[in-house]
Amino acid sequence: MSHKPVVLVTRKLPDAVEHKLAEHFELNLNPDDRQYGPEEMLQLASNVDAILPCHTEKFSAETIALLPPRVKAIANFSVGVDHVDLEAARQKGVIVTNTPDVLSDATAEIAMLLMLGAARRASEGERIMRNQQWKDWSPAFMVGHQITGKRLGILGMGRVGQVVASRARGFDMTIHYHNRKPVDDSLAGAATYHASVESLLSEIDVLSIHCPASGQTKGLLNSDRIALMHNNAIVVNTSRGGVVDDEALVKALESGRIAAAGLDVYNGEPDHIHPGYRKLDNVFLLPHIGSATRETRNAMGYRAMDNLIAIFKGEEPGDRVA
Ligand code: DGY
Repeated sequence: MSHKPVVLVTRKLPDAVEHKLAEHFELNLNPDDRQYGPEEMLQLASNVDAILPCHTEKFSAETIALLPPRVKAIANFSVGVDHVDLEAARQKGVIVTNTPDVLSDATAEIAMLLMLGAARRASEGERIMRNQQWKDWSPAFMVGHQITGKRLGILGMGRVGQVVASRARGFDMTIHYHNRKPVDDSLAGAATYHASVESLLSEIDVLSIHCPASGQTKGLLNSDRIALMHNNAIVVNTSRGGVVDDEALVKALESGRIAAAGLDVYNGEPDHIHPGYRKLDNVFLLPHIGSATRETRNAMGYRAMDNLIAIFKGEEPGDRVA
């Protein structure tokens, strides 16, 4: 590279990542970590060669059409790419990459935390402690659901789903899954494949959602499908809020048809999530922190950087999605 390509980094990344990026690129950074709207982002992109965004920046077809021709790539700091209109990027010839693999362990940890937190009423217990409402111990106090030995249904047996399956085996859970295609045993381990979502839902005690948000998966967990689940089932979502029909899930949680939910991702996040969730005791809520560990956030940054380096060397980036 004779001169360094210019990269717009839309959010504050870990210091180590920004330092490393600066060795290869001229950076337009966001030290205050302000969230850019599409207009401001387009303005800032007017003299850059690539953008390194997070899922918080939306690249609609309209925004992509307005990107200056100089912008060659959108190298996401995320595995999810539902915030980018991939078809529009393809048509404009903008390369899009993501950061798979490196966040699977961290996200699986949060899936297990949500599963346990929802099943064992962690949110309620925490509130009781903080509000000094703990007055007594009794055999009936705070009784929840045991997950040991239960049937876990994994919706989307990709990288994260596979790690969750492996961690859940540590709790003697039996693994069921639905995926577009069966996954090789060397990756899925001992697990029962269900060719349909419906079949999966009717045979499990805990559902953990790991499929990406797309036109096909939007509102997939709706009232008809919830009706197929066992009483006392638990729902965990670390993927994207869009896969869940909130109205249906909130109703099922209110009525006790679904025993509990553990959620890290939401429709309308961060500030327009379904108000019903906040009111319910049987929901364990986290603020989209699946990948939020130091190790993982660094690894995501380096992965996005490697993709950019490849692109500007004229090579095929490892994680191209468009
Ligand atoms: C991802 O990588 O998709 C996480 O949800 C954070 O954006």
